[in-house]
Amino acid sequence: MPSTKPTETPEILSEATKSALAQPCTLVIFGASGDLTRRKLLPAVYNLLLDGLLPPNYAVLGLGRKSLSDDEFRQIAKKGIEQFSRQTINDEKWNEFHDRLFYMNGPVDDLATFTNMKSRIEGIENQLKLPGHRIFYLAIPPTTFSPTCEGLHKAGLIYPVDDQSPFSRVIVEKPIGRDLESAKVINEITGRVFDESQIYRIDHYLGKETVQNIMVMRFANSIFEPIWNHRYIDHVQLTVSEAETLGTRASYYEEAGALRDMIQNHILQLLCLIAMEPPYSLDPDVVRNTRMDVMRGLRPIRGKDVETMTVRAQYAHGAINGKEFPGYRREEGVRPDSTTETYVALKVFVENWRWAGVPFYIRTGKAMPKRSSEIAVQFKDIPQILFNADPNVSQAPNLLTLRIQPEEGMALRIISKKPGSKAQTRPVEMDFKYGDTFDAPSPEAYERLLLDVMTGDASLFMRRDAVEASWTWVTDILQGWETHGTKWLPEYPAGSWGPIEADRLIETDGRKWREV
Ligand code: BG6
Repeated sequence: MPSTKPTETPEILSEATKSALAQPCTLVIFGASGDLTRRKLLPAVYNLLLDGLLPPNYAVLGLGRKSLSDDEFRQIAKKGIEQFSRQTINDEKWNEFHDRLFYMNGPVDDLATFTNMKSRIEGIENQLKLPGHRIFYLAIPPTTFSPTCEGLHKAGLIYPVDDQSPFSRVIVEKPIGRDLESAKVINEITGRVFDESQIYRIDHYLGKETVQNIMVMRFANSIFEPIWNHRYIDHVQLTVSEAETLGTRASYYEEAGALRDMIQNHILQLLCLIAMEPPYSLDPDVVRNTRMDVMRGLRPIRGKDVETMTVRAQYAHGAINGKEFPGYRREEGVRPDSTTETYVALKVFVENWRWAGVPFYIRTGKAMPKRSSEIAVQFKDIPQILFNADPNVSQAPNLLTLRIQPEEGMALRIISKKPGSKAQTRPVEMDFKYGDTFDAPSPEAYERLLLDVMTGDASLFMRRDAVEASWTWVTDILQGWETHGTKWLPEYPAGSWGPIEADRLIETDGRKWREV
């Protein structure tokens, strides 16, 4: 019997999360005096505490290069939380959190750091009666992964995967390599001392509320799946624009560029969620296998194909929201002849039955007019009869827009009759905004992801094969650019929507970039 009553949705958690609660554990953060720890990680742990999601017993031990006392670290943590947490400081909870924060310093290429760490962790575990579960968060440059993993192993800090031992898990931050070879090296290094089931490769886009909603939208509604294919969809546009310029990240970004920084990880994951088949269960590996199938189906862009399927560009001097910015090559720390791209547009095909012939247009860039991430699914035109009979004025096609940030939600463009006695039509939008419908602000991506590691749910993390498959695809493009690229990249003024070449990429197919 069909149900007629709207119900509160059941908790949307994968099998692993449902069956396990967050375990009492020690979170060890490498890179504890860095930006990520202050801005994202400590505020995330603190918010989990406020929301009652942390295990009842836990500790956080930071390891950094700076020499700080526990108290100095706690002060830095408090400032970070005051500035970056989505919820404000609550004195009672802060006092509890404060007593569970610890710090030590030492170089990661010295084994003594790890032997000291072992006695420090064991001391904390004894003091707080923790059972020995440990999570190691590598918020450090990949060049230091090797000594860190070796140190952890040699000092006996990692337990094997068996029923008797407490768990040991490692969280690996991006960048996981800068091409296929270097990604494999990082995977080898971590794989030497950790079992694949202990490794959590983070892609913070997968922790965003609206990104998780893509699967719910597709597979918890009956109306989308039947039309989610090449018969009804004309094309998909994926836009991740940022108004920020380079800032202080030249040393990293010069070596990365937009393709490695945004597309290899975040955007390919979005594409996988949009294009994947329905998984047969929410088991982490089933979901990851299904995402992986999309990656395997991507048509390679090799050699001369980069000329027709890709555009890369750099921002030039311009104004964003009325404020002037210098061109990329004039930014501090950037080589004056740099060919690092700050913008990429791609035309991508997923070669399977569902998506045959449907282009996915992707664009991402820095120094654009505004921050916006969205996926727009454009449906096919209706036949040129009835309300679409005028050959000079065609009806706007239906468009489903999934807004990931900043204003999270979803909109469906449909054609409606204008009120009045004439038979006039107009496109209108059915608009759903997360903020208006649900009272509570969405948790930050890192909150969800850290909680998942504590419960042992790897669904939202990247498996080794997925990382290597995405690098395989991206490395083809990088090589194509080397052999078929032009020396000087096209430019776009800071504060604009990208270079003219990107317009041509889509306009030669008779389509246009959406205004976001
Ligand atoms: C990071 C990139 O992974 O993602 C940054 O290194 C980028 O360059 C950031 O700005 C974007 O993340 P978000 O969550 O702000 O969209």
